[in-house]
Amino acid sequence: MHLIWLELRNYRNYGHLDLEPGPRLNLFLGANGQGKTNLLESVAMLALSSSPRARRDAELVGPLAPEARIAAVVESGSRRAEIRISIVIDGERARRRIEVDGRPRRAVDLPGLFRVALFWPDDLNLVKSGPEHRRRLLNQMLVQVEAGYARALARYARVLEQRNSLLKQVWSGDQPPSALEVWDLELAKLGGEIAGARGRAVAALREGAAAAHGVISGGEVLELEYQGPPADLLSAVENSRREDLRRGSTSVGPHRDDILMRLGGRDARGFASQGQQRTAVVSVKLAEAELVASMTGERPVLLLDDVLSELDGDRRRALLESLGEPGQVVITSVEAEPFPAAVIGSSVVRCIEAGRVQACG
Ligand SMILES: Nc1ncnc2c1ncn2[C@@H]1O[C@H](COP(=O)(O)OP(=O)(O)O)[C@@H](O)[C@H]1O
Ligand SMILES: [Mg+2]
Repeated sequence: MHLIWLELRNYRNYGHLDLEPGPRLNLFLGANGQGKTNLLESVAMLALSSSPRARRDAELVGPLAPEARIAAVVESGSRRAEIRISIVIDGERARRRIEVDGRPRRAVDLPGLFRVALFWPDDLNLVKSGPEHRRRLLNQMLVQVEAGYARALARYARVLEQRNSLLKQVWSGDQPPSALEVWDLELAKLGGEIAGARGRAVAALREGAAAAHGVISGGEVLELEYQGPPADLLSAVENSRREDLRRGSTSVGPHRDDILMRLGGRDARGFASQGQQRTAVVSVKLAEAELVASMTGERPVLLLDDVLSELDGDRRRALLESLGEPGQVVITSVEAEPFPAAVIGSSVVRCIEAGRVQACG
């Protein structure tokens, strides 16, 4: 999987960028606030169809016009495709349009054409913050490798919303309880699909993440465990109806999933240091890249935003060595200093300043 060419127009702080990344290691250096994360975000959008960090699409649109554009040529196997995403501000709303090779494509149908494994500082929430961050990790990976996952996820969200609003209507007597039956069934069916995919993904990630973490940390033991809904989801949904009616929301299903992360046998949430958290998250991401490669036969593009900070010298070295595999990698950093000369020598190095990418010097 390769990003051959990237064009940004009025995207965040990029007025006009044309970029041809190198086929292997690409290093982008820049001070804070210059556009390093924005650049990786735009590449991630080509894989995920939406921004992994923006709350609203309108945030992505720069000051020059009411429209932002990302265009790219990507290569998968020997096949090239041109992806175009445009975000147009239209009154209060922003409309997103996606085209592949000149033909319109729905957002749920884009993932899978181009794949990335993304690490960025927001991901540090993976260890310490709420379960939604860990669910997002699984979703970002699974939409790219499992046909139908993005669609199941979107349908599940709609079913959940319908069931929740119906719960309130049944509670207030506006609808009979039997109206819930069809939604219970749908919830259990889609929820079962999602949970199945997630359970398999965590089982497959576990070994790779433990191996990467062991190498980078010099021997710490990382364990992952999927905490999904009950196997008989339909019975669980039916049994929780009374409670759900009282709460006005659905209490069982994959929207409550979590991944338990243990470090040295203890829940990592409570005691892992910043550096240990970073190591754990990076390890999960490296395992994700490996897993996607083994599932699809092709390495995803690895996007690592500011990955080296907070790691000690040994961990930095071990991490950079574990990137030695073939594949396209994009790394950002405030400074070149943490990178060994050999890494700099084998990378395409560019500097980012105020939304412009240029040779460093
Ligand atoms: N829609 C937007 N229009 C213009 N500038 C934006 C927009 N969104 C973010 N920015 C600017 O982008 C910069 C942050 O870029 P970022 O990629 O996060 O920096 P860093 O290099 O530290 O990773 C900030 O200066 C911010 O004001
Ligand atoms: Mg940044």
